[in-house]
Amino acid sequence: MKQPDRRNFIKMGLLSGALAPLYSGANNTEQAKTPAETAGPFYPITPQKDKDFDLTHIEGKTSPAAGELIFIEGVVVDTAGTPIEDVTVELWQANAAGRYAHPHDTNPAPLDPNFQGWAIARSGKQGGFRFKTIMPGAYPVSGSWSRPPHIHYKISKRGYIELTTQMYFQGHPLNQKDRLINRKTENEQKLMEAKKVSKARAMDTYQYQIVLEKA
Ligand SMILES: [Fe+2]
Repeated sequence: MKQPDRRNFIKMGLLSGALAPLYSGANNTEQAKTPAETAGPFYPITPQKDKDFDLTHIEGKTSPAAGELIFIEGVVVDTAGTPIEDVTVELWQANAAGRYAHPHDTNPAPLDPNFQGWAIARSGKQGGFRFKTIMPGAYPVSGSWSRPPHIHYKISKRGYIELTTQMYFQGHPLNQKDRLINRKTENEQKLMEAKKVSKARAMDTYQYQIVLEKA
């Protein structure tokens, strides 16, 4: 069962360039740029060979990552709503237990040797990109503050202003109490959320739009 599923998935990934525009944002209507956010202290610094779009499987390992499988369908557009192809989309995140594979993460939650945690992809002709991953765990920052599940992104292409941001999951209860999210206006918060869509797939799918500004 595992092998055919994985092959199909890879095939889908290779077709990502042919993805139809996913959002009204790709309809050539004016879009607000995606708000920037700090990269935080856990940008990956340990070299890693496998950085492909499937974070649930590390090349050469037989077991998948622990956690709830999710699928992210993204699109990158400019502020005129035009899809941008060939954008470098880099992302990193905590594992299902809320731990980063980073030497400075002091969270006692366990590491997951099967979770890739870091990936780099490229948008296709219609600005689309996709990742298969696991829902990141929430993690404590201080006694009174837990970060809600989020995924960090760095998005770049020559001719555009590089964007570092964080993607949140629409409706997560911890979003309301997060100190970083609360510094944003309500409208900015909406622009940073991925929305769950119903799809006939075995895993939950989230859609996320990134709006880059021309340099
Ligand atoms: Fe983080």
